[in-house]
Amino acid sequence: MFSGRTPASLSPNRLTRALAELKAAGAPILDLTVSNPTREGIAYPREEILAALQDARSLTYEPTARGLLEAREAIAEWHAGQGATADPGSLILAGSTSEAYGWLFKLLCEPGDAVLVPRPSYPLFECLAELDSVRVVQYPLVEELAWGLDLSELDRLVRPETRAIILVNPNNPTGTYIKHDIWLRLQEFAAYRSLAIISDEVFFDYAWRADPRRVSSLQGPHLALTFTLSGLSKISGLPQMKLGWIHVAGPGQLRSEALERLEWIADSYLPVSAPIQHAAARWLELTPQIQHSIRTRTAENLASLQAAVSAGSSCRVRTPEGGWCAMLEVPRIHSDEEWALMLLENHSIWLQPGYFYDFQREGFLVASLLPDPDAFQIALQRLTGILGPY
Ligand SMILES: Cc1ncc(COP(=O)(O)O)c(C=O)c1O
Repeated sequence: MFSGRTPASLSPNRLTRALAELKAAGAPILDLTVSNPTREGIAYPREEILAALQDARSLTYEPTARGLLEAREAIAEWHAGQGATADPGSLILAGSTSEAYGWLFKLLCEPGDAVLVPRPSYPLFECLAELDSVRVVQYPLVEELAWGLDLSELDRLVRPETRAIILVNPNNPTGTYIKHDIWLRLQEFAAYRSLAIISDEVFFDYAWRADPRRVSSLQGPHLALTFTLSGLSKISGLPQMKLGWIHVAGPGQLRSEALERLEWIADSYLPVSAPIQHAAARWLELTPQIQHSIRTRTAENLASLQAAVSAGSSCRVRTPEGGWCAMLEVPRIHSDEEWALMLLENHSIWLQPGYFYDFQREGFLVASLLPDPDAFQIALQRLTGILGPY
């Protein structure tokens, strides 16, 4: 009856089942997996955010497939403020970054074609690709290169049916950014093989410190067709508003045709509501303030984590270059799943096991840095008790 685009089995895995049972029994779980900043007591300019939705222009329906010019101009201006050049005429608005991926798969791939995706990384691509009958082929990010990209590995994996290379810049959860030298080589690599580059930059603004080697994919040269994805979900900490975008760059004719075809796809869905598009410019004005609140929170929790772990525990914090989470390297006396299950069932701490992100080896847990600092501290005290010197 049903297509193979949805999973053969929808039953929850062992960890999800254990979590649901504990929650149902009313156990107070210290959740260090939260990725939603709107429910952790982070300060938002609440009135201003809501006031932006009161725009009388929203009473009229004026569909534009690429998205309202005013919103695209505001997004281009935001990127310019971050030191990257984005052209409003090269932007297409979507309901989210996730939706934008689907549009790019439809644009670039026939059923059965493949895209190269990083490993470890956020487990989003596989299900999005499957929904479009596209295969994902994982390329390794090399731990010894601070989870950087190795072009010879990519080369080994390219097949005639490969259409695109997906980058996550910075990667989630390793936090690694694309650097200038590899960016230039990757552009040549992709152009030579007629591959598109899709760069997911949702966390780009959340670097822990400056590094002049870092690049945004908005930055040329664009020898290959290059799509940069971002959205309000992370940039403005407003995942509930559902606004993402695709910036298209590349050699002249290829770029114009990609834009026209994406516009055609967007026109078939027209998912972004008028109030959201009219509010976007104001929300982007409020974004520095929101980012400051989020950064203050993640910095406080990262400092606590580093202090707790350096105080004699047997685990190590792998400090990321950017993003909203940190990796804990734990002794490989248990599998990642056993660690996560033991911490959950015996100590009420809910951490993501590394396998969730497809790390090449065991020994990693991933902690979100968004939780309420008091709850985070309690979880850390328990963790250091458990992970004290072995
Ligand atoms: C790397 C990455 N890209 C995209 C997304 C999803 O973004 P959106 O809410 O715009 O679909 C996430 C969500 O956590 C993510 O981690």
